[in-house]
Amino acid sequence: MEALKRLEYRGYDSWGVAFGEGPNLVKKSGRISGVSFADGEVAPAFAGLGHTRWATHGGVTDANAHPHLDCTGKIAVVHNGIIENWEELRRGLEERGHTFRSETDTEVVSHLVEEGMEGVADLAGFVEVVRRVFNQLEGLNAIVVYSPQIRAIIGFRNGSPMVVGVGPLDSRSGSPREYFLASDIPAFLPYTDRVIFLNDGEGAILSEGELKLIDAATGQEKLPQIEKIEWAAEEAELGEHPHYLIKEISEQPQVLARLAEYPEKDLKEVISLIKKSFGTYFTACGTAAHSGLAATYLFADLAHRHVNFAVGSEFYFLESFLTPKSLLICASQSGETMDTMEAARAAKKHHAKIVALTNVRGSSLTRLADDTLLLNCGPEKAVLATKSYTAKLALFLMLAAGIGGKLEEGRQGVAKAARGVKEILDDKNVAKIRELAKRLKDVDHLYAIGRGVNYPTALEAALKIKEVSYIHAEGFAGGELKHGVIALIEEGTPCLIFAARDKTESSILSNAKELKSRGGFIIGVSPEDNEVFDIWLKVPDVGPASPIVNVVPAQLLAYYLAVERGLDPDKPRNLAKSVTVK
Ligand code: F6R
Repeated sequence: MEALKRLEYRGYDSWGVAFGEGPNLVKKSGRISGVSFADGEVAPAFAGLGHTRWATHGGVTDANAHPHLDCTGKIAVVHNGIIENWEELRRGLEERGHTFRSETDTEVVSHLVEEGMEGVADLAGFVEVVRRVFNQLEGLNAIVVYSPQIRAIIGFRNGSPMVVGVGPLDSRSGSPREYFLASDIPAFLPYTDRVIFLNDGEGAILSEGELKLIDAATGQEKLPQIEKIEWAAEEAELGEHPHYLIKEISEQPQVLARLAEYPEKDLKEVISLIKKSFGTYFTACGTAAHSGLAATYLFADLAHRHVNFAVGSEFYFLESFLTPKSLLICASQSGETMDTMEAARAAKKHHAKIVALTNVRGSSLTRLADDTLLLNCGPEKAVLATKSYTAKLALFLMLAAGIGGKLEEGRQGVAKAARGVKEILDDKNVAKIRELAKRLKDVDHLYAIGRGVNYPTALEAALKIKEVSYIHAEGFAGGELKHGVIALIEEGTPCLIFAARDKTESSILSNAKELKSRGGFIIGVSPEDNEVFDIWLKVPDVGPASPIVNVVPAQLLAYYLAVERGLDPDKPRNLAKSVTVK
């Protein structure tokens, strides 16, 4: 139950567990956070299978929550992904007399396993059945099947993440006392830091006192490789903070200071790949995409190099440009985002090189990439990406500076930004932003503008605000205002202006004046006050690292807008942390 709560950031529409003999089944719509063992519904057992859901097929109902049982109620299944041929499989199963209790694609797995299990009573037979069923599924999926009769849990993955946790050793037998299977490490981090990352097309069999890995295609056994994870369990806990979002915003100075010391060898390897490539492309989704867009400006300014950028979901339509000389740089906190993964798979198909910027060692992206730079931010659990965003900006800044022959300056820029973010997080500044949030909490619209490398900052500020406060917010390039956007400005419309001390300064301040003369309420994020600002949010001047510091007041504003509006900042509606479907 505790492990599921730690995974809730991946989906929180509904939850469910199947445990012990039977198995017993409890599943409900809504969040698991408030539920505990003490409620008595879920009891200790020798094994259990749980799930928190982010709906894809079928609405948010108790019946659609996982696990899903077969007709006999003896097989329990949880699933992540989309089974593309589920309708055809379901039709066949219904014709053969199976009764479905949900509208999900997942339930076909329980019934297919049920059919295969006729006359099967041993572990080897169960493994073979689940393996065959998994191979029948089209699309990118991870499934886990539990049979209390066989006393085993079997998981297979293809495209969706799955990791095995190997529990502490029993002093008498010398073998692990327990095993875990999860879609992300924080689930079992308090119990073990020893993990096995499953590859696509692999399965794990957890039976009493034993763990085996097998190949999904051949059924052949594979040798498990246990790795030790460096994250401390406390890093994944709230500590003194009321929400993960504010905890992670506050961690940025340490994250950035650590990144400023990034091993030279690792940066230089990627710098050399970029230099050698003929065509460098960046791809990413959502917040990560904004870091990729910022990278195009950083590379132009600091490396005098043209790089291409497209969001992950659109990259697929541009893949024909790729050749074996191309380099694709994929930025993804989770390393699991389906659209980013699809772009990486397209690059692989064209024999292009791939570099991953990710926070999760062993993630799907790192397995596909030729080289990886880890963000080293510690677990990011709030649905909103914050520290992973500034970490990606820091790495892009150092890479761009390194290509321009100024790696040391790049490092100093990041170190300066680390100190700058610390200043912004000072109690007095935070209190000012909270006051601003109180004032803005009932507005309908908010606009953010920036230019150059802070145009992506405007996009990111708007995304942070809209996804957590549900206030309609849009980001624009300052120069675009007069091409249509300015029609939206009314008396009192709040406008966030990112005015860095660079070549964009005078033109963005002119844009601010244009907004103000049409009634805009101007909030300036800038190292220096200006008469056009109604409110000034001071940020230090950190040169080319300005997008790192500029985004922080917007992150804080988004957080406090959610708090002031009585919303849960860690679990915005309709969203999930890892988007592992297309
Ligand atoms: C927004 C947010 C998302 C993610 C996006 C990509 O706050 O968190 O937009 O940035 O889903 O996720 P990753 O970086 O894991 O690929």
